[in-house]
Amino acid sequence: MRPRYDFEGLVGALNRAANLTSGLRLIMLEAQRRHGEAASDLAADLAARYGHPDADTVRQAALLHDVGRTLDLAALKGITNWHGWPPDDDEWAAGANLLHGPAGAAVARAVGLSAEGAAAVRYHVTGRSELALADKIIMAADAAEGTRRYAWAPTAREALAVSLELAVAFWIVLKVERVRAAGLALHPRSSQTLEALGADVVAEARRLANPFL
Ligand SMILES: [Fe+2]
Ligand SMILES: [Fe+2]
Repeated sequence: MRPRYDFEGLVGALNRAANLTSGLRLIMLEAQRRHGEAASDLAADLAARYGHPDADTVRQAALLHDVGRTLDLAALKGITNWHGWPPDDDEWAAGANLLHGPAGAAVARAVGLSAEGAAAVRYHVTGRSELALADKIIMAADAAEGTRRYAWAPTAREALAVSLELAVAFWIVLKVERVRAAGLALHPRSSQTLEALGADVVAEARRLANPFL
């Protein structure tokens, strides 16, 4: 049984660890940890492929992208210092599913990641209208990393083989349609992300996602 952390306890445990990977091994459940590590490996590959100048930041942001998921709703709502990344009203209302983005960004900042890395963590759930390269890499790696075993995972990897933007669009379309099907509120940034990616890319993403909706 892992200890249940609040935000400060989580940050303290990560800062005391020899490095981020070993710290996350103490904190995350096995499947979460393997997802983060696999996303980190893929993100490093993508940083090289797409010429991101700071592969270390991208790798660390991918490792940390779901660290907010280790905090329960009470711990998320109890965060008092968001380190510059407070949730918006829609995120507060939606609960853990959206709050894990800003919470992860706050953790990222508290353990020393750059603002760019924290932003990629912050926006990995919904994207944003002005996507940075690091944002796209983290979202694509989240969807396509090698431990994903869902029916849609091979298609996420096919989309990524075509382009980073198609992989992001596929991922957002998949999530948007599932949120809609569950009758939950859609965060406006998800639609803004799809608009920013452009109609052609989104149409192709919808075609790819269709069998899984
Ligand atoms: Fe996430
Ligand atoms: Fe994830």
